[in-house]
Amino acid sequence: MRTSTLAIMSAVIGSVAVLAAADGHISDKQIAAGIKARQSQMQLYSFNLGVLGAMAKEETPYEATAANAAANNLMSLVSLSQAGYWLPGSDSDSVEGTRALPAIWAADSKVGEKGKDFFDAVTAMQAAAGTDLGALQAAMGAVGKSCGGCHESYRKPRE
Ligand code: HEC
Repeated sequence: MRTSTLAIMSAVIGSVAVLAAADGHISDKQIAAGIKARQSQMQLYSFNLGVLGAMAKEETPYEATAANAAANNLMSLVSLSQAGYWLPGSDSDSVEGTRALPAIWAADSKVGEKGKDFFDAVTAMQAAAGTDLGALQAAMGAVGKSCGGCHESYRKPRE
């Protein structure tokens, strides 16, 4: 788990550092591809969270195997390196087609902490999801809150 924590931290924070050193050789094509990749990652978060959320709200019957699979998917997603997705110059002030706020790349950015909160919530969900419905429901709030917590600070609201 320690390694994964580092992976997510470096995924989010490392992106900024890596990119600061990238001496401006980032093409429009790379920017566009990075935006598409991170939005796709978010869509996969959303899909898997939706599976868990529907069970938590008892819209679909609780099934340990499916719950486990969705929680494991979230953990796999969170463990991917995102360093190539969050390129400097790919914020919502600089380019079209993204809602990623420039604050992500600011010197005082807390995006790494938001990523850590999310990682911790997913870790707890992974332990809970396959146990029973009550455990899944109990773990749900923290996951949703950690998605929302990052969006509040770092995702531009829809116009
Ligand atoms: C560390 C910050 C962070 C966390 C954690 C996070 N998001 Fe996001 N999310 C963002 C940012 C920034 C964007 C805007 C990305 C862009 O438009 O380039 C975004 C965009 C999205 C989108 C829109 C994607 C699109 O196609 O435009 C969805 C859906 C989404 N997030 C769902 C989630 C869900 C569900 C979770 C939790 C399971 C989550 N996010 C966790 C930062 C975060």
